[in-house]
Amino acid sequence: MLSIVTVGFHGRFFNRQVVIMRKLLAVFPLVLAGLGVTGVSQAESDVDKQKSVERGAAHYRIFCINCHGEKADGHGPLTALLKIQPADLATLKRRLKPGESISDRVFLAVSGRHEVGDGKEKKMPTFNDNLEIKTVTEVADFIEVIQK
Ligand code: HEC
Repeated sequence: MLSIVTVGFHGRFFNRQVVIMRKLLAVFPLVLAGLGVTGVSQAESDVDKQKSVERGAAHYRIFCINCHGEKADGHGPLTALLKIQPADLATLKRRLKPGESISDRVFLAVSGRHEVGDGKEKKMPTFNDNLEIKTVTEVADFIEVIQK
């Protein structure tokens, strides 16, 4: 009698474990799939960022390099003709205000809305609507990765 009860108890206990195991096994692939998906989307966004940086570098060569220079240090070939020297964009991060991003500052500068020191003149040409938002975003992504 006692042994039957014990078997019954074990049986039920075992059954419950089987049910839990089955549930876990059912969920497991979903968890794995979830991890896989986030892994892939992370890789995709890294690739997108890399492409944006590459396109930004190409735009930089067209629109900015003549003044800001090959190394973005503000020593481009046109500087000889300018009264006001172009900013060193490779150290832009150090001059950001609290909460400001590289992208914020680049957007302000290309539209002539950035602040310059007292007594200084704005000499940065304003691109206004001549550059698409996407283009400026890509240039900013490029400037971000070349920070010293
Ligand atoms: C004709 C020359 C010239 C070209 C082309 C030019 N810049 Fe400038 N830029 C300047 C000069 C000069 C300054 C410094 C005076 C000023 O801030 O207006 C400056 C300042 C800046 C600043 C402000 C830096 C700071 O410390 O706040 C940013 C950002 C900037 N340029 C980004 C760009 C980007 C991005 C491009 C290309 C899309 C570009 N510039 C094209 C001449 C130029």
